[in-house]
Amino acid sequence: MSDSVKTSLPLSLSTRRAWAADQSISYLMQQGLVNRDVISLAAGFVDEVTLPTTLVQNAVQRIFAERASGQRALQYGSTGGNVDLQEQLLSHHARLERCDVSELGITQDQVIVTAGSQQLLNHVAEVLLNPGDICLVSAPTYFVFLGTLNGVGARTIAVESDENGMKMDALETTLNQLEAAGDLPRVKLIYLVSSFENPSGVTLADDRRRAAVDLAQSFSKTHRILILEDAAYRELRYEGEDGPSIWSCDATREHVVLAQTFSKSFSPGIRVAYGIVPKDLVTPIHDVKGNFDFGSPNLSQQIVAEVVRDGSYEAHVDSLRQSYAVKRDAMLRAADAYFSDIAGVFWLRPQGGLYVWMSLPPSVDTGYESALFERATKHEGVMYVPGEIAYPGGSPLKRTNEMRLSFGVEAPETIDDGMRRLANAVRNVLESTSHATPG
Ligand SMILES: Cc1ncc(COP(=O)(O)O)c(C=O)c1O
Repeated sequence: MSDSVKTSLPLSLSTRRAWAADQSISYLMQQGLVNRDVISLAAGFVDEVTLPTTLVQNAVQRIFAERASGQRALQYGSTGGNVDLQEQLLSHHARLERCDVSELGITQDQVIVTAGSQQLLNHVAEVLLNPGDICLVSAPTYFVFLGTLNGVGARTIAVESDENGMKMDALETTLNQLEAAGDLPRVKLIYLVSSFENPSGVTLADDRRRAAVDLAQSFSKTHRILILEDAAYRELRYEGEDGPSIWSCDATREHVVLAQTFSKSFSPGIRVAYGIVPKDLVTPIHDVKGNFDFGSPNLSQQIVAEVVRDGSYEAHVDSLRQSYAVKRDAMLRAADAYFSDIAGVFWLRPQGGLYVWMSLPPSVDTGYESALFERATKHEGVMYVPGEIAYPGGSPLKRTNEMRLSFGVEAPETIDDGMRRLANAVRNVLESTSHATPG
């Protein structure tokens, strides 16, 4: 090597890379991996004990029982997804909507299979949003999608939410304000996690689902404003009745993209999810997906097709609901036991999903750099997700005193222990703040 080539030159990275930098999810996952001995009420991972190892083993055996079907599974598939799986998904979707496939009003190509729903969310953002285009989200919302929106240079505006999800009067006000400012042409998307939202655990009320569709339709003046309904947790309901999806409230089938995944209800490692998209979004999504991977892993898709077809998937979800209900109850019981006597602490009781959302007194900062985070992780050995990452940067609705607590990963008794430790950390921080306050 010549003497002149001693120092390496800097990379010249794209603007899109800069937009994608600083993703909280990577930090969180890394923290989860380095702090293995810490009780994790943070990880959004699913319960390892209930992962369907035997079901998958059986499905794989069936696929490889014949050489020809094994060969098909090991071949490339098509961009939009395996046809057999798409057919199963139409029936599965009809079951969830409690109707016949013929009543769905869609064709098979409108079911697009992706490697996890994160991929679909990303593709939808890519095909719809130019830099500066607007997406409206609940406050708080799924923080990984906030990263996706940043990644395409979108402008994200948070809309006030309560225990029934995004407030529709607030959505209407926001849309009116954007129209008055001449920004309505930039509004492309309204993102709603319809059931047991990550992070808040709230479910969008039925009347708000219909109102959201009405608003998307009535504010569609120069172009169609789409709702991206993320139903990742829809099948994990532990009490109450499942209502209509937002998608089903849109009789035109033109205003809602529905994102569903098998990650939470079956296995995230298998990376199979699907979207149901308006007819004229099929080709745009195929085009970006073609550039990205020209088809999600075929073997995974065939495994999911097998378990959906033979009914073992449904039976699995039934048993999963029971075991997660026990864990949710363990967390809520522990919240009652350890937090009820701390003034100013509130939490929501989710009817499903994997998360409990807790608010602390406004003086208690929960961020990564906070005294509470340090106390919880270093002294008490318990981790949570700071709530502030679930708000778009700069949003006036952002609060810094909230936590997402996950009951997905740990066993019920460990959840109890984790909650006890977390309450100790909160008490410790409250005591030191009250000592530090003059007078
Ligand atoms: C609300 C929500 N949407 C989408 C996803 C993405 O999941 P996957 O890509 O595994 O389907 C998650 C994962 O935690 C989620 O919580």
